[in-house]
Amino acid sequence: MVKFDYDGCGSFVSDEEQQRYVQTALKAYDLLMAGDGAGSDFLGWKTLPSDVPESLIEECEAVRDDWKAKGVDLVLVIGIGGSYLGSKCAIEALSHSFIRPEGVPQIVFAGQNLSEEYLSEVLDLAKIRNVACVVISKSGTTTEPAVAFRIIKNYIEETYGEKEASERIVAVTDARRGALKTLAERKGYRSFVVPDNVGGRFSVLTPVGLLPIVLAGFDVRQMLEGAAEMQKYLSLDRSEFNPAVLYASIRNLLYAEKGFSTEILVCYTPKLQYLGEWWKQLFGESEGKEGKGIFPASVVCTTDLHSMGQFIQDGSRNLFETVVSVEKSNRDLTVFPDGQNYDELNYLAGQHVEHCNAMAQLGTSMAHIEGGVPQMVLSIERINERNLGSLFYFFEFSCGISAYMLGVNPFNQPGVETYKHKMFALLKKPGYESI
Ligand code: PA5
Repeated sequence: MVKFDYDGCGSFVSDEEQQRYVQTALKAYDLLMAGDGAGSDFLGWKTLPSDVPESLIEECEAVRDDWKAKGVDLVLVIGIGGSYLGSKCAIEALSHSFIRPEGVPQIVFAGQNLSEEYLSEVLDLAKIRNVACVVISKSGTTTEPAVAFRIIKNYIEETYGEKEASERIVAVTDARRGALKTLAERKGYRSFVVPDNVGGRFSVLTPVGLLPIVLAGFDVRQMLEGAAEMQKYLSLDRSEFNPAVLYASIRNLLYAEKGFSTEILVCYTPKLQYLGEWWKQLFGESEGKEGKGIFPASVVCTTDLHSMGQFIQDGSRNLFETVVSVEKSNRDLTVFPDGQNYDELNYLAGQHVEHCNAMAQLGTSMAHIEGGVPQMVLSIERINERNLGSLFYFFEFSCGISAYMLGVNPFNQPGVETYKHKMFALLKKPGYESI
């Protein structure tokens, strides 16, 4: 489970202010729970943890097992934005950083950029491996994954033949619409549906996230259980103690009344780097509209204390932090005593490396709060599927409340269309002639 602590905001907000914002947050909570707010056609994510049928997980496992039988050792997962970041986050968090377990394919993402070099290098890798591909696009029309898929599909067809290619490609897309849906039907690909009522950035617990996570060898049942536990907790507790209500109310108070316009998601392990990326998309696309919104940024410490630490401690005072704290390491490594002690580290002898990390975290918290950076902390016991599921759900629910507090529709992204229109005009896409 996730624990929430906002003591680090005590010197920045008063009890009276907090109570006022909690009342507004509870109104937003009611809108979210009743499905009466803007964008309410897209609330399917709220009940996903308890709605996902066992048969869907079994279908994902069937793909995993079929590809294992073919000896597939590289799965290219094509998608961008919400069709990429949730599974990337979970896989990065749960995987060994350097070594792939026997019998588990390497997962490589593509279609999340338009870099010719990146895609060429993906093909270089494909050429020396046994490849399958999952292409994910809810709309089925997004340019970046479509370009990557055309090229990767062609490679798979040429290498394995059309019939075998159709067994090595799986599509995750809309039930009815879009170019990818049509293509998947014509080619006879196995397909998974992205539910109509779940938007991209809220889709990690649909096949968009679940299929790649299963293919990478992780336990999505545990992830769904963690999310379901959080769903129950947040949806049954309509009170000022509900952590999602508190998180949404404090961040809005800091933003609207105290001038803190940037929130930094901070973690102390590189394994959670992509939690920051997923969270930035979730809050950035949900809240940043109509001239409003808290700018979401992220850092990985202690690495970034040696790059962004100076700014956070001492630069423009419009920053607040939300730390995702991991209480226990999944590994065990101690600094041992050294008779020579040339490196003068014997004062750490007998200490776990993670203890040093925890002290860095504590010291940094104290320094940043003293330096004028309010801080909230979300703690999980350790990184595992269950706790990631809880975190996903916690942030999605909080985001819904927070965006309603801001007065925006959390579930649309009209601003994303502007660049597309100009890019299409420059690329001379039919129907987009004027910039
Ligand atoms: O959150 C969103 O809706 C977006 O980030 C989409 O996920 C992203 O644009 C990709 O869209 P699609 O899955 O339709 O290719």
